[in-house]
Amino acid sequence: MSTVKLLIDGKDHEFRVIEGSEGEKGFDIASLRAATGYITLDPGYGNTGACKSAITFIDGDKGILRYRGYPIEELAESARFPEVCHLLVYDHLPNRDELMEWRRQLTLNSYVHEAMVNVFDSFPPHAHPMAILSAMVSSMSAFYPEANTPETLDMAIMYLLAKAKTIAAYSYRKSRGEPTMYPLSDLSYVANFLRMMFGHPAEPYEVSPVIERAMGLLLILHADHEQNCSTSTVRMVGSSQANLFAAISAGICALWGPLHGGANQAVIEMLERIEADGGDYKKYIKMAKDKDSGFRLMGFGHRVYKNFDPRARILKKACDEVLGELGITDPLLDIAKHLEEAALKDDFFIERKLYPNVDFYSGIIYRAIGIPTNMFTVMFALGRLPGWIAHFREMRMERGERIHRPRQIYTGATQRKWVPLDER
Ligand code: CMC
Repeated sequence: MSTVKLLIDGKDHEFRVIEGSEGEKGFDIASLRAATGYITLDPGYGNTGACKSAITFIDGDKGILRYRGYPIEELAESARFPEVCHLLVYDHLPNRDELMEWRRQLTLNSYVHEAMVNVFDSFPPHAHPMAILSAMVSSMSAFYPEANTPETLDMAIMYLLAKAKTIAAYSYRKSRGEPTMYPLSDLSYVANFLRMMFGHPAEPYEVSPVIERAMGLLLILHADHEQNCSTSTVRMVGSSQANLFAAISAGICALWGPLHGGANQAVIEMLERIEADGGDYKKYIKMAKDKDSGFRLMGFGHRVYKNFDPRARILKKACDEVLGELGITDPLLDIAKHLEEAALKDDFFIERKLYPNVDFYSGIIYRAIGIPTNMFTVMFALGRLPGWIAHFREMRMERGERIHRPRQIYTGATQRKWVPLDER
């Protein structure tokens, strides 16, 4: 057994080395506090492994991303989103029969409880769709109590994967005061979603193959990213034995922030701001370098990728293809390319290894295929759903999983004596 030694207060302490299947190394400090009285302090958890996981591998220095061993480039090229969902959650690519049945179930289960449809009416008309999505996913615990126990986890997984797209589309329709559309069993996962978003109840809906492919690609590229903020939230909430719907709802809320999934909306708002400002992207590069400005180049930088984000590379290419095929010229794409080019030549960004991330180009594709800006993060959530579920399930399958409960270094007042009100 390989170990590391820590010299603490003049005494050696030995800790077991844990090695991953790709050679990643860590050492197990679970006994550290009991043995030494010390804890480790790692704000932002940049060096903390919270679990062992067999779902997604990332090598941030080499720009590698693999789901269950399959390179993201190959999945982006050849897979369909439902296949990727199955792969992530159940650790194997479905064969033809399995895939047919999986798809059938994803469609048959995509209706939502009629009483739930009425809940949509209670939200104010301009509610952010992420608020609606997280609330409705949490409310699934109330509407589907039969899928709310450890024994029915697979049923809950299917309900969630199938119904989330319906909830997402309904939140959009309701925000526009439009009637909801029911899913159709002869359409694919993506086509159903697009029809429920944009179709008219009185008209047949033609799904553009270019848009269907682009949307499928976006969902696949977002499907998992190991222990990111929202996935860690899902694991944190799930570790208390909370049900799947509650844990995923919490993950949706974590994703919403502009440093995480909310960055795709923030990128487009930033590009629109630059356009409205006469396209002067250099001014914004300057602002991003000035710490006092409070401005960051949205869609740039990543905790893990320090060379390039393979998802951004695929999306940049897809941007040109999708806009070209749809015959769209978007001035924001030019601004984005200029920004990227200028930032990649700038010492500030070079020294800090800041590259475009998945959110930098995704918004331009969403715009081109007609997704409104405030729905971008919902699209990210739909894509990330199988990843969250896979992590929740992996945690549940593991024996001896403990509730997540970090420690702290307390920096507040030491003991004080109570002061009665009239003496303060
Ligand atoms: N623009 C300008 N400076 C930046 C940026 C940026 N986008 N990102 C990081 N920096 C600087 C930061 O000021 C710091 O500089 P210094 O060392 O001089 O203090 C240095 O780079 C390291 O930044 P950090 O905030 O310590 O890095 P982090 O790993 O904690 O944060 C991040 C990662 C993604 C939150 C951050 O890069 C960021 O805020 N990016 C913009 C938001 C964004 O695009 N988020 C989407 C992330 S990818 C999709 C997802 O997983 O959600």
